[in-house]
Amino acid sequence: MITINEHYLKLQASYLFSDIAKRVDTYQENNPDKDIIRLGIGDVTRALPEACIKAMQAGVAEMAEDSSFRGYGPEQGYDFLREAIAKHDFIDQGAEVSADEIFVSDGAKCDTGNIQELFTTDIKVALPDPVYPVYLDTNVMAGRTGSFADGRYQGITYLDCVKENNFVPDLPKEPVDLIYLCFPNNPTGTTATKDELKTWVDYAHRNKALILFDAAYEAFIRNPDLPKSIFEIEGAREVAIEFRSFSKNAGFTGTRCAYTVVPKECVAYDSKGNKQHIHPLWNRRHCTKFNGVSYPIQKAAAAAYSPEGKKQIRELTDYYLRNAHHIKEAITALGFSSVGGDDSPYIWIDGQGRDSWEFFDLLLDKTGVVCTPGAGFGKCGQGYIRLSAFNSYENVVQAMDRIKTELG
Ligand code: MLT
Repeated sequence: MITINEHYLKLQASYLFSDIAKRVDTYQENNPDKDIIRLGIGDVTRALPEACIKAMQAGVAEMAEDSSFRGYGPEQGYDFLREAIAKHDFIDQGAEVSADEIFVSDGAKCDTGNIQELFTTDIKVALPDPVYPVYLDTNVMAGRTGSFADGRYQGITYLDCVKENNFVPDLPKEPVDLIYLCFPNNPTGTTATKDELKTWVDYAHRNKALILFDAAYEAFIRNPDLPKSIFEIEGAREVAIEFRSFSKNAGFTGTRCAYTVVPKECVAYDSKGNKQHIHPLWNRRHCTKFNGVSYPIQKAAAAAYSPEGKKQIRELTDYYLRNAHHIKEAITALGFSSVGGDDSPYIWIDGQGRDSWEFFDLLLDKTGVVCTPGAGFGKCGQGYIRLSAFNSYENVVQAMDRIKTELG
């Protein structure tokens, strides 16, 4: 008899963003004339940078000739891309990371979701609340939680991110083994200082814990004092893994390319308490379950580090940040308090006592604007909504004008 992994049965009905997409589709079917503006899922809307397109086209041209055609590439990524990443994203920024510590993949969502399978199911997992749902759901699937009750899974250590701590999690009150951090944060848009990250790195050393650091939104940081990588923090190489993506900086959400950094010093422990390096284990997993990102896409990703590529990415992220600033100004003028939007494309808005999903329905119904209900990111997100800056400036201005008219 084929039996099911019953941990899947504990999951909430559907993945947050699929749920929202379905609701919006139903709404559009029932209101075909309504012009919908999507500020919900963080999906980019602008064309790929020209430098990336040209490199992708050159890569496709190479694939068209027997003499330059490539079949399977290295699972971890081509050297040209891994070397460019190590130099531009880390070494030039004062962080020590070498090319062979980089694993190129098709997405930070997949990597942050898959990495947990290296660890036993009895570890204690700490997650911020609110949180990107992938971290939680993949631990539920793996059986690291009890059932869902009162908005939370038993067995998870939730780190409340609330007004009182400026939405930056405090250290857990009980010892934990695996910690998920994301800065600039999805969904709240908040950032962490070097001192705050150092506190986490020190905690991980003291508790033989591991930090999974999601830096998918680092390209939006403009404050020069804020760290872009956890590897800017002393001691992080032993206790942290970092996830990055070309999705939000270079607009690769539909193109797919990302990477994970596993430093050679980074360790977990076996059942006898002996240190085991994570790098060879992730390498083993990657080679077994993944066959590499396609060559033209890796060429395109590498072009993001060319002088033109860097300039074009800066323009792209500046464009979305201008949207974020507009949202923030408009929402503040309406009397709502919010965080994020300065070094991040997300604005986390206090709904002034409204239920998150009710606020979502109200905005959709009255203004045609799609947001993401904060409750979808966890219990502490109840009462909040998230607006994303990923849309055209014109649409963002129109969305905020409609919101002003309806709620002003
Ligand atoms: C989000 O809206 O939170 C993100 O776009 C989801 C993702 O990157 O997978």
